[in-house]
Amino acid sequence: MDANDVKVFGVLGAGQMGAGIAQVAAQAGLSVKLCDVSLAVAEKAKAGILAQLGRQVDKGKLDAATRDATGARIEPIGDKAGFAPCDVVVEAATENTTLKLELLRGVDAVLREGALLATNTSSISITKLAAVTSRPTAFIGMHFMNPVPVMKLVEIVKGTATSPETVELTRALAARFGKTVITSNDHPGFLVNRVLIPFLNEACLAYQDGVGSIEDLDQGAKLGLNHPMGPFELADLIGLDTVLAIAEVLQTQIGGDKYAPAVVLRNLVAAGWLGKKTKRGFYAYDDKGQRGAASLSR
Ligand code: CAA
Repeated sequence: MDANDVKVFGVLGAGQMGAGIAQVAAQAGLSVKLCDVSLAVAEKAKAGILAQLGRQVDKGKLDAATRDATGARIEPIGDKAGFAPCDVVVEAATENTTLKLELLRGVDAVLREGALLATNTSSISITKLAAVTSRPTAFIGMHFMNPVPVMKLVEIVKGTATSPETVELTRALAARFGKTVITSNDHPGFLVNRVLIPFLNEACLAYQDGVGSIEDLDQGAKLGLNHPMGPFELADLIGLDTVLAIAEVLQTQIGGDKYAPAVVLRNLVAAGWLGKKTKRGFYAYDDKGQRGAASLSR
């Protein structure tokens, strides 16, 4: 199979990453099956994608016919059995090893021989996830960045058993989605999060140590380093539960005090303040997702 043979594309997990991946696949002309725990959840995610595309129509950047055609290519499903016709499935569930192992076993069982199975994990070992499937050579990390429709990068992660053919197919598929690819070996955090998560955690430690405010640390990164978002704004966008989960993978699998997650990050996750998606994280957010004041002060 080469990338042009891929016609039916599955996405497991219809959260912000899964919905974004479904959107770019549908915009590239693929038939997409978008699956979550129930049909209602998957349908809600599709409605979100249509609303996002609708904003592009309102701005005059997309025509209504293209939006409708893209929407028509996305079929919400509530059961993994619906992945049977898929050439490729990308798993984009919560960053939890036990959950991913269970979901991947289930998807593997319904896919035909020769179909490719990928995971959007941000840090978990591809080799370990591949090992519970019947297709470790056709298993790969396909790590998209958030927000998926905007960010140009896909990080491809090769597991120990991933075949060169699988790498090439994934690379070509990412190119069909308009993405640029970098390739990582299977090591905790891969390339992007090995660098990003210690940066975000260091901002938390600097805040905890009383060096300065959340707003000033963000402003420092934006105006001093030319980052589009400060570390706290970005952590809220990613989701603090995800940031903590990745930090814990780095800490436990690379080891050393260097990767220990900051207490303030642990506390926010324990409080259920997970960032933009729960309308509260390092900052508060209104119903439209507009950022308000910092949630914490010294
Ligand atoms: N979904 C789709 N499109 C979105 C979007 C979303 N969630 N958020 C913004 N956009 C689009 C807007 O519609 C707009 O499109 P047009 O230019 O066509 O009108 C464009 O992005 C710019 O948006 P805005 O003008 O509203 O805002 P902005 O200029 O401040 O950009 C941003 C927003 C793109 C998010 C920018 O702030 C940015 O690049 N931030 C950094 C994001 C980043 O670092 N992501 C990587 C996270 S790490 C990761 O994902 C890996 C991991 O495993 C944790």
